[in-house]
Amino acid sequence: MDIKQINEEEVAANEFEVRALLSEILTANFSDIEGDFAGAYYDKLIVFLQNGTAILFGAFDRGQLVGILWGYEVDNFDHKRIHINMIGVKSDFRGQGVATELMHAIEHIAVLRNICELELMVNACNDRAVRCYQKGGYYVERYKMLKVLSK
Ligand SMILES: CC(C)(COP(=O)(O)OP(=O)(O)OC[C@H]1O[C@@H](n2cnc3c(N)ncnc32)[C@H](O)[C@@H]1OP(=O)(O)O)[C@@H](O)C(=O)NCCC(=O)NCCS
Repeated sequence: MDIKQINEEEVAANEFEVRALLSEILTANFSDIEGDFAGAYYDKLIVFLQNGTAILFGAFDRGQLVGILWGYEVDNFDHKRIHINMIGVKSDFRGQGVATELMHAIEHIAVLRNICELELMVNACNDRAVRCYQKGGYYVERYKMLKVLSK
C-alpha cells in the first residue's frame, strides 16, 4: 500500500473514488441524512486544499485510490491539535491496516508541525471505527449529547 499526501490536482484525477469514499464515510456515520452531502464535502475539500488548510492523505493500491484521511489544524485554547475530519477505506480493502497506516501518516505530519494532540468525532454506533481509533491510542475526551424535540 502506498500512503501519500495528495493535493487538489490528484483529488481531481481521482474524483470518482474520492466522492465514493466521502459518501461511504457519511453513510457510515449519519445514517439518517438525505441529499448529496458527499458532493458538498467534495467541493469543500477542493477549496480547503487550495487554501492550504486541508491535510489529505490517500492510500493507493497499484495506483488505485482505496482510502483517504482528511485532517486540519484547529486551536485548542493555548495549543494546536490536528482534527481528523474524515477517514474511510474502500470496503474490499478494510481490515488490512489501511486506516492504521493513514493515521500514522497524519501523526507524522503532527510531529513535523510540533503538534502533539489529534482529535476526531465518531458516531458511537460505528463499532469498527471506534475500535480502530481505540487501537490507535484515542480515548473519549468529551461526550457529544443530543436531544430531539417532538415536532
Ligand atoms: C473505520 C475504517 C476507516 C477502518 O479502516 P480499516 O482500514 O479497515 O482499519 P484497519 O485495518 O487499520 O483496522 C484497525 C483496527 O480497527 C478495528 N477494526 C477494523 N475492522 C474491523 C471490523 N470489521 N470489526 C471490528 N473491528 C475492526 C480493529 O481493532 C483493527 O485492528 P486489528 O486488525 O489489529 O484487530 C473502515 O472500516 C471504514 O472505512 N469504514 C467506513 C467509513 C467510516 O466509518 N469511517 C470512520 C468515520 S469516523
